[in-house]
Amino acid sequence: MTVLPNFMSATVDEQRLARSHDDLAAFGRASRGGVNRPALSDADIAARQYLIERATAIGCSITIDPLGNLFMSLAGRDRSLAPVLTGSHTDTQPSGGRFDGAYGVLAGLEVLTAIQHAGIRTRRTIETVVWTNEEGYRFAPGCMGSLAFAYPAERERLLAATDSMDMTVGEAVARMRRALSDPPERPLGFPVSVFVEAHIEQGPILEQTGNKIGVVTGIQGKKRFEVTVIGEEAHAGTTPRARRCDALLAAARMVTALERWIWDAEDVARFTVGQFEVQPGSHAVVPGKVIFSIDFRHPDRIFLEEKSSRFLEICEPLAGGCTVSVHEIGFTPPIAFAEQVPQAVQRAAERRCIPWMPLLSGAGHDAQHLATVCPTGMIFVPCEKGVSHNEAENATSSDLATGARVLLDVLLDIANS
Ligand code: GLV
Ligand code: MN
Ligand code: MN
Repeated sequence: MTVLPNFMSATVDEQRLARSHDDLAAFGRASRGGVNRPALSDADIAARQYLIERATAIGCSITIDPLGNLFMSLAGRDRSLAPVLTGSHTDTQPSGGRFDGAYGVLAGLEVLTAIQHAGIRTRRTIETVVWTNEEGYRFAPGCMGSLAFAYPAERERLLAATDSMDMTVGEAVARMRRALSDPPERPLGFPVSVFVEAHIEQGPILEQTGNKIGVVTGIQGKKRFEVTVIGEEAHAGTTPRARRCDALLAAARMVTALERWIWDAEDVARFTVGQFEVQPGSHAVVPGKVIFSIDFRHPDRIFLEEKSSRFLEICEPLAGGCTVSVHEIGFTPPIAFAEQVPQAVQRAAERRCIPWMPLLSGAGHDAQHLATVCPTGMIFVPCEKGVSHNEAENATSSDLATGARVLLDVLLDIANS
């Protein structure tokens, strides 16, 4: 007599995963097909409510920590063991895409759904997490929820960060918790056995090479600065050149010189001035103040530190009568993932005969903070033309499902070990 196992094998459902992306993109839908979902905004809260409903329907328990990180947990057989975590973020850039962050959360939910439908009870609990404020657009710094999780001592400083309307993170989290009917609280920094984050590549390499899985080896480092140039407001029609302290012209010279300063023939360094605020902002007034941002990234910490230590020196001679100050507002060192998770991802791709390649992540991710507390890794899938942080961001349902299948294998492997 044949004894049948009492569970089927867990299967990722490509259509269900595609529908999840359509559903989530409705929260904060933007005019050109993308998403505008600032961290802890009404749209972000509605997105999390949707996830809670989906997770609760498959028997997950829901918990939340003091930074608003949300955990959807499918209980394992041995509750004394540290859980396996997967997930990403639901906040987006102001003109963001449908997949950045959303994919990691929805692939995690898809894996939990597949496991539950197959009747499998893993040894360790598996949890899909939504980290708070990854993008760092509404509140600085980015990757705030995962940072607080990895460094709980940072909690009060991070909860005190404010948005442009002077609302603190603490107030925004409290508002969200009330709206979500106060899920039970979880401490920051509870023990985690492994963290695996699935994400679209946000670059063109997988598509160009025909690979379907990026086995992520690490994440490049990033520094953020705010530069303030103070000039003098004056009448645009009457003030001769010699009497002007035009903060905008000085700032423009500085941006050009800084870009030249970090220029490398290999095209590895990344330098972006994405915010540029001119005050008082009237066509008839010589600008008296400019504040601009610098986002500076490189895989080598020494390069980042040496180049940026001279930013002020580069700017000062170009101030032309204005004053300039440079403030560092964030530093995330480059990180190399320990071998365990990348090897598990590679094995899973090989078992399924999926073409894969190793990749270093150019974008920042919550995984970089988790890597300081537990073995961590990431799974990249291709995105169309490498476009991201853009409403046109796109990825095929089939590639998303392939990544979710690899995630399923890796999580089952680790959760049963
Ligand atoms: C995250 O989106 C980053 O800016 O790298
Ligand atoms: Mn992301
Ligand atoms: Mn992003």
